[in-house]
Amino acid sequence: MGSPKGRGEGAARAHPFGDVVYRPTAHRTWAYNPGVKLDDEICYCFHVSLRKLANYARREQPARPSGMSECLGAGTGCGWCIPILCMIHRQVADGRDYDEGQTVAGLPDTAAEYADARKHYLKSDEKNTF
Ligand code: FES
Repeated sequence: MGSPKGRGEGAARAHPFGDVVYRPTAHRTWAYNPGVKLDDEICYCFHVSLRKLANYARREQPARPSGMSECLGAGTGCGWCIPILCMIHRQVADGRDYDEGQTVAGLPDTAAEYADARKHYLKSDEKNTF
């Protein structure tokens, strides 16, 4: 049985927040963002926090990642947050429980870095879709 999609180990992966390519090593794993809190916004367009999204995914168990958009419209604006919505959907389906103080794989180090990356995204031509 292989790794779930997007969780390959040892392979370089394009980060959803820009041109940065993160390579997991013994010193840097995918869990690298202790600065992101449950009440930090994931969807800036609709002000939807990680807590709301994780609770929604756990409670409603949408069949497809696009079902995450039913949580206060998340992902239906600029599309910036769609990769993270998909990740939250997958992780909750895999049994992940988000708790305060835990790291969230796939997110940058801090909410400020996440917001800066969105600014870059908004200026780019490539847009995320479900
Ligand atoms: S940040 Fe979520 S749609 Fe724009």
